[in-house]
Amino acid sequence: MHAQAYLTSRDGNGKCHENIPVWVDLNPRVQERARQEIDACCGADRSPTWSDFAAIPYINCIIKEGMRWRPVAVTSLPHRARADDKYEGMFIPKDTTVFIATWAIHHLDSIYQDSDKFNPDRYLDHQKLANDYAGTSDYSMRDYYNYGAGRRICPGIHLAERNMWRMAAKLLWAFEFSPPYDPVTGKE
Ligand code: HEM
Repeated sequence: MHAQAYLTSRDGNGKCHENIPVWVDLNPRVQERARQEIDACCGADRSPTWSDFAAIPYINCIIKEGMRWRPVAVTSLPHRARADDKYEGMFIPKDTTVFIATWAIHHLDSIYQDSDKFNPDRYLDHQKLANDYAGTSDYSMRDYYNYGAGRRICPGIHLAERNMWRMAAKLLWAFEFSPPYDPVTGKE
């Protein structure tokens, strides 16, 4: 269990951290808005801490949108049906392997309007962490599905959400990200 926890946390959380600069350097407007919120809250003398979470809500929106737009795992882990089952008129035979189609769900325009567009603003009305929405009985409030769903949902969700917020807030406080360029030609 500990090895599994370590491996899943290292791969899942690590890849998401690596993606944070990519999400924002492709989107200068997003980076600017985040910086304005961070500067208004923390100034230049100290970097953001977890206690600033409510005062810098746009960071949470950036993380949610990055996790939705480019999920690190395109499906969740496989599960096996232990018995014949039925779901919305579909027959699911015993031993069927079932995945959550994370990428496909995240790119359904019927749920996420203009789903190919990186737009953190879509989460302005989702101010809580993913674990709060995953725990609600109203599934239409789910923000994104990177951690899976149901009884085997990722137990690291609480740690991962807080880690990503802290990483993103500190990176955006300290650095300005831009696309890489050729130092000779100056072209991106
Ligand atoms: C952004 C980071 C992470 C992502 C995207 C992620 C994603 C996932 C997904 C999709 C599953 C499978 C859920 C399912 O089958 O429905 C899972 C399971 C699991 N995760 Fe994570 N995870 C992350 C971070 C972590 C962290 C930080 C830990 C531990 C400290 C962790 C521990 C686990 C464990 C132990 C399971 C297996 C749970 C079970 O089968 O009952 N994960 N994770």
